[in-house]
Amino acid sequence: MSDTSFDVVVIGAGPAGYPCAIRAAQNKLKVACIDEWKNYDGTYAFGGTCLNAGCIPSKALLESSELYHRAHAEFAAHGIAATGLAFDVAKMQKRKAGIVKASTQGITGLFKAAGVTALQGHGRLLAGNRVEYTAADGGKRELVAKHVVLASGSQPMALKSLPFDGKQVVDSWGALEFGSVPKRLGVIGAGVIGLELGSVWRRLGAEVVVVEAMEQFLAMADQAVAREALKHFKQQGLDIRLGAKVSGADVKKDGVTLKYTDAKGEQTVTVDKVVVAIGRRPFTDGLLGDGTGVRLDERGFIQVDDECHTGAGNVWAVGDVVRGPMLAHKGKEEGVMVGDLIAGLHSEVNYRAVPSVIYTAPEIAWVGQTEEQVRASGREYKVGSFPFMASGRARAMEAPAGFCKVIAAKDDDEILGVHIIGAMAGELIAEAVLAMEYSASTEDLQRTMHAHPTLSEALHEAALAADKRAIDFPNR
Ligand code: FAD
Ligand code: NAI
Repeated sequence: MSDTSFDVVVIGAGPAGYPCAIRAAQNKLKVACIDEWKNYDGTYAFGGTCLNAGCIPSKALLESSELYHRAHAEFAAHGIAATGLAFDVAKMQKRKAGIVKASTQGITGLFKAAGVTALQGHGRLLAGNRVEYTAADGGKRELVAKHVVLASGSQPMALKSLPFDGKQVVDSWGALEFGSVPKRLGVIGAGVIGLELGSVWRRLGAEVVVVEAMEQFLAMADQAVAREALKHFKQQGLDIRLGAKVSGADVKKDGVTLKYTDAKGEQTVTVDKVVVAIGRRPFTDGLLGDGTGVRLDERGFIQVDDECHTGAGNVWAVGDVVRGPMLAHKGKEEGVMVGDLIAGLHSEVNYRAVPSVIYTAPEIAWVGQTEEQVRASGREYKVGSFPFMASGRARAMEAPAGFCKVIAAKDDDEILGVHIIGAMAGELIAEAVLAMEYSASTEDLQRTMHAHPTLSEALHEAALAADKRAIDFPNR
């Protein structure tokens, strides 16, 4: 094969594209992966939104701000006097940038080790499984591939009445780059980004107002969890205004006045900076040449079947640019599946067991159906809950907030959903995902030994509670 001829060309090296390229290479295929991501300093970097402007930098700042908050609010309970506490945003940002750099350079290393040809620049699918590659210097080359995988990701949605200006009105990436703590921060959208980034800046002292259009808080989550979460976020000082639809804004040098309508009528709130976090849309700008046969749905997602095949020749699409939750791990599993399917191996993604995690404090995590969804399905069910307050480990950690909740079918005891709010919920949910992957019953969890004292005992006890057999908490 020549330098321009490949078994697989992947366009996009985010968490969906790069694992696809690596898995295809592991399957002894000749692979190239093209990515055009550029950071604010103008340098190319692999890893997409997740590594450069999403999952990783947000978790770095969540960790730093949480440590500061805990030192401030919790150390005293441990008998530790933390006087003269101070933080340095520049140092926090530097630590974050170092983590991002190490992570993105790691992808370059992984490509090298796997034998993937890494190309930085723009990729465009042409008819007939050809890909036009435009390098950084503007030079164009045409690649021919037996299979092409589109993994071009997503981008933030903008508000017509409040366009991004990169200074006072920013998207999530902008909010991860603040060089100082805004005195008053407005967040539009109480979704995952709004809550995570609102928490970061609130913990560091900003007055944070979150304006959310829907009446219901965290509509996608189990509502018992959502109610518990709202209580904690309010205690932390997040001013969450529900049922508030933004109708316009006045951007002036000394502040942004947001206008919104809620049940009481027209309202305004003035802040120094605004983060618009109202969702993301699939990104396909400049991706598709004429006559490729790849179709977009009415919301702009590339249409695919359950195996991520577009139905147009040997063209596949994975990650945020296709239907399903916009999550890095969902994209990764799709990428790996396609890397195997192309090589003729069997593979599938279980879309019923995709975990969701919100990295706030307390953390929120779930897998499977919410109680509201199970009720609406008409299936008879039982619920077991266990509060972290009754967990010895949680009390020892000074983290008694929240609970584990297991929902299971009444007829065959199969676990239908697990919902956790509390410390380390994002780690604890892995056991529930594995349980659901194996179609486990609550009895399977009940009969599994859990180390003591661990937070995972709360999940064990919640499974027992589903049959009113919890040991460490009165059964109701
Ligand atoms: P992307 O990561 O967007 O990567 C697509 C890549 O393709 C980009 O590098 C882009 O430049 C490149 N590209 C696009 N078009 C072309 C082209 N024509 N030619 C060449 N290159 C192209 N998800 C989680 O699971 N957990 C989290 O904690 C989490 N936190 C997040 C926090 C924030 C602030 C944000 C914004 C998102 C977060 N997400 C999180 C979502 C996660 O980042 C996405 O689901 C994930 O990045 C999607 O992966 P992807 O590979 O499909 O797309
Ligand atoms: P989101 O869909 O989670 O939340 C957007 C919120 O904005 C919704 O509650 C919506 O009702 C509200 N909204 C929409 N228009 C509005 C308006 N005009 N005024 C007020 N509110 C409005 O989207 P978000 O937070 O932008 O995140 C985008 C994606 O990134 C999500 O799909 C999420 O999966 C992913 N992500 C995942 C993370 C994680 O896994 N921990 C962290 C951050 C992002």
